[in-house]
Amino acid sequence: MAPRPIIIDTDPGQDDCIAILLALASPELEILGLTAVAGNVGVDLTAANALKICEIAGRPDIKVFRGCDRPLEKPLTIAPEIHGKSGLDGADLPPPRMALQRDHAVDWLIAMLMGRPDRGTTLVALGPLTNLATALCREPRIARKIDELVVMGGASRALGNVTPAAEFNIHVDPHAADIVLAGGIPTALMTLDVTHQVLATRARRDRIRDLGTPAAATVARLLEFYAKRERVGPDGVPLHDPCTIAYLLDPTLFSGERINVAIELAGTHTTGMTVMDWRRRTGRAPNCLVFREVDHERFFALLTERLGRL
Ligand code: BDR
Ligand code: CA
Repeated sequence: MAPRPIIIDTDPGQDDCIAILLALASPELEILGLTAVAGNVGVDLTAANALKICEIAGRPDIKVFRGCDRPLEKPLTIAPEIHGKSGLDGADLPPPRMALQRDHAVDWLIAMLMGRPDRGTTLVALGPLTNLATALCREPRIARKIDELVVMGGASRALGNVTPAAEFNIHVDPHAADIVLAGGIPTALMTLDVTHQVLATRARRDRIRDLGTPAAATVARLLEFYAKRERVGPDGVPLHDPCTIAYLLDPTLFSGERINVAIELAGTHTTGMTVMDWRRRTGRAPNCLVFREVDHERFFALLTERLGRL
């Protein structure tokens, strides 16, 4: 079967890095490009980090585009307390040798998608949705070019990780998330409910380190840094962003339901909350496939095997 063409919009980020490496290690996926957005750190750093990640994988052929430097309406909030000043702290990577593409990520997204068949491209969003929302506002017809949008964002039972109510990616740019969910794109949402079940424990981190390749050694160092800051339970490092790629590789790892999701834009305490209509009280049509469960053992088997290929 021909590989599935995907674009990854990202704000690396240690977990973004692992997601992108998983995609680069997987022949089922053809990466058309990476678009960087401000999120975990500013966009100059996320764009440089995206280049560094391609170099870790030995893939200087991947096109990387710098995108929006701030959310649509709110001031930018970043997360150096989780990801370090560089966004990829722990790895100690040299400056990239690869160069960014000249086009702005939003211009490229529009041109790329409009030149492709309807429902012919998959989009994976690993950061705030600013690039995609901006592209949709400028050219709403890109919606029909996308066969599936897989977003890491939101929370329901797990509640928030940046405020009690909101998950980071949605909280940084709730207005963008609101536009994207209204855009008519078939959307799957990988929330904290799922990613908090995908925990890189000590034993799992050791298995990755023991692969013995330079790429695996880098991932192991990133995970050790991340493990000190992003914890669920005594020994759990949630691998948020890699869940999106794992879903594309093996949808049977995840289960969920199609429901309506609305974004809280103006809550006193709840801005950026994903309001999920599990009991169908609103009468609003389902707009997302929201995952609830994951087979985490099989997830780690897949991730470890793929990282071993790099
Ligand atoms: C999300 O926020 C970021 O810090 C991570 O990279 C992930 O995309 C988790 O809430
Ligand atoms: Ca991210």
